[in-house]
Amino acid sequence: MIELLNITKIYKTVSVETKALKNVSFNVKDGEFIAIMGPSGSGKSTLMHILGCLDVPTSGKYLLDGRDVSQLFDDELAEVRKNKIGFVFQSFNLLPRATVIRNVVLPLVYSNVPKIEREKRAKEALFNAGLEESHFNHLSNQLSGGQMQRVAIARALVNNPFLILADEPTGNLDSKTGEIVLEAFQKLNFKQKRTVIIITHEFYVAEHARRIIHIRDGSIIKDEINHHQRIIKL
Ligand SMILES: Nc1ncnc2c1ncn2[C@@H]1O[C@H](COP(=O)(O)OP(=O)(O)O)[C@@H](O)[C@H]1O
Ligand SMILES: [Mg+2]
Repeated sequence: MIELLNITKIYKTVSVETKALKNVSFNVKDGEFIAIMGPSGSGKSTLMHILGCLDVPTSGKYLLDGRDVSQLFDDELAEVRKNKIGFVFQSFNLLPRATVIRNVVLPLVYSNVPKIEREKRAKEALFNAGLEESHFNHLSNQLSGGQMQRVAIARALVNNPFLILADEPTGNLDSKTGEIVLEAFQKLNFKQKRTVIIITHEFYVAEHARRIIHIRDGSIIKDEINHHQRIIKL
């Protein structure tokens, strides 16, 4: 469970003060699939940074899995991130000359999971992210964009996170390839009951989620169940 209560974020520079988030409140139940949608400058990235424990709010409360993480120090935030959150970025952020398996195993390298177990988990995550087994030993720069993003999704899954957070995950993909990635998220949500939050500025992407939170100028203007969730079956 996630609970945001009156989250406000103010960026201060010498000359200006920007209120990027204004009294944002919402809850997320386990197993939800949510899109946070808004135009450029509306506060999406700021909200993503707070949800992902990359930054803390100026004021307000953020409960993640029962713990108030709104005023933690950097090292404590890093610990929460490592254990509870899987990130997927627009630009994939893979190691280009490492194999697919190696990329996915990476988050486990500094854990005390034995090597054989790490590889087993990586393969399972890749399978769940929908990558064909014949690609597991390819170098990641030999893959297509859609395959790269599925590897990135697998990497986000390998720690068994509480929440999967994706920032414009289809932003670098053509619409056909984007569908492959959205299908992977839907499968994770439907079959594995994973909690997924996708940040996007496009309705075309948001309509694949079960719930859409609309944000403008740092405020939530609408929070709705998407009764016309577009389900992808490829
Ligand atoms: N580090 C920062 N310092 C100052 N202002 C910022 C910073 N990051 C974002 N902003 C401002 O906060 C507002 C929201 O930005 P952002 O969260 O990046 O929106 P979005 O991701 O929806 O485009 C914008 O007005 C932006 O200029
Ligand atoms: Mg942004």
